[in-house]
Amino acid sequence: MSVQFPADFVFGAATASYQIEGAVDEDGRGTSIWDTFSHTPGAVVGGDTGDVACDHYHRYPEDIELMRRLGLDSYRFSIAWPRIQPDGAGEANKAGLDFYDRLVDSLLDNGIDPCATIYHWDLPQALEDAGGWRNRDTAHRFADYAALVHDHLGDRVHRWITLNEPFCSSILGYAEGRHAPGAKEGDGALAAAHHLLLGHGFALAALRATDIKNQIGITLNLQPVQPVSDDPADVAAADRSLLLSNLLFTDPVLAGRYPQLARQTWGELSDFGWIRDGDLATIGAPLDFLGVNYYFPSNVKAVPNDEPDASRRTADDIGAKLVIPDGEPLTEMGWPIDADGLNRLMHWLKDTYPGLPPIYITENGRASVDEVRSDGSIDDQDRIEYLRTHLTALAAARGEGVDVRGYYLWSLLDNFEWAEGYAKRFGAVHVDYGTQKRTPKASFEWYRNLVATRQLD
Ligand code: NOJ
Repeated sequence: MSVQFPADFVFGAATASYQIEGAVDEDGRGTSIWDTFSHTPGAVVGGDTGDVACDHYHRYPEDIELMRRLGLDSYRFSIAWPRIQPDGAGEANKAGLDFYDRLVDSLLDNGIDPCATIYHWDLPQALEDAGGWRNRDTAHRFADYAALVHDHLGDRVHRWITLNEPFCSSILGYAEGRHAPGAKEGDGALAAAHHLLLGHGFALAALRATDIKNQIGITLNLQPVQPVSDDPADVAAADRSLLLSNLLFTDPVLAGRYPQLARQTWGELSDFGWIRDGDLATIGAPLDFLGVNYYFPSNVKAVPNDEPDASRRTADDIGAKLVIPDGEPLTEMGWPIDADGLNRLMHWLKDTYPGLPPIYITENGRASVDEVRSDGSIDDQDRIEYLRTHLTALAAARGEGVDVRGYYLWSLLDNFEWAEGYAKRFGAVHVDYGTQKRTPKASFEWYRNLVATRQLD
């Protein structure tokens, strides 16, 4: 069966600053929490850091040439806060803004619409030293920084994403300690989640207050969640899992409320003292679009809480274990592959939130082995299959009435996969980190054909 996407459906590819740019000491860039974390022994697989990454800071013209060949409608990149405000406050560092000027102007020269993410996890270390996202002041600092970059680039960049995946910044960063800043706290993580969302709300208000009227949204990583059985314990565990992965973020942003279950789950541990009157109205202000990153669904089983430090806010702490059904195919990340999960997620959003804004899938893709053959080619049929089935599921959701306007492949290039380092490759373009040679994979040609024809076979 062949599927046709309309001419105005946006096909893009995505990256993020710390994962590709390198050049961490150049042109006045300050230190971010990911510089500190990646240089902490044991934090990242193989001791990898983003010091050089894909050297995109210097090689962006070559990378934009690849995007042009791919025929992208749009490119989603992120702005490195420590390039703009090395210490997280005050005047802009001109050399930092200059880089994004060059990038944006070159994208436009090549007919590619830029989509800017304002925060993709590289918090200036100076702000972390003052408490980071645990601290309400960071939300104000973020809004100042957002206004600064929007004032500068908003005449040319018309689609803006305030935050990328606040779940990861808060829960992985401040509860599980798997991401920067590597903290393992209880209330710290929930306060961080709130202050991230508050920063989003303050930034949204600041951008709306200017004369430039751009499209503004937020990107959340969301999962369809289901219990592994009808056992009431599994059903309750799935509810708590949904709370942590989705509702803690979707409810404030899309409905201006915190879920009832938050108080039931954490009420004995937290007084939620960081939430002030008016915050939820700020966070829940209307959006032009919702960005959704989808990778895999959650199949949840109840487990005893075997974490003695019950003040933490992790999946284990809430007694909800993600299980992988026997025989389920996995990506190199160990993530299950379930394309229909994307369709279920789209319907869950539509059914749960009346007045849901249009959706862009701002990330989807897989890590693969990507063996380089003797002739230098990379025949990543598993990635093509992943993309083909997920885009088919997305087309089905559109056909069933979910308003999805675009899709960004993660990722344009292989890059620094956070705590997993460089070993995990998500790119449509292979990067040889020794030489920085870029080699388009078979999926590149496949995606190029899709973007050109808008047709999936
Ligand atoms: C989500 C994140 O936004 C991105 O930075 C990461 O590389 C991909 N998922 C894959 O894990």
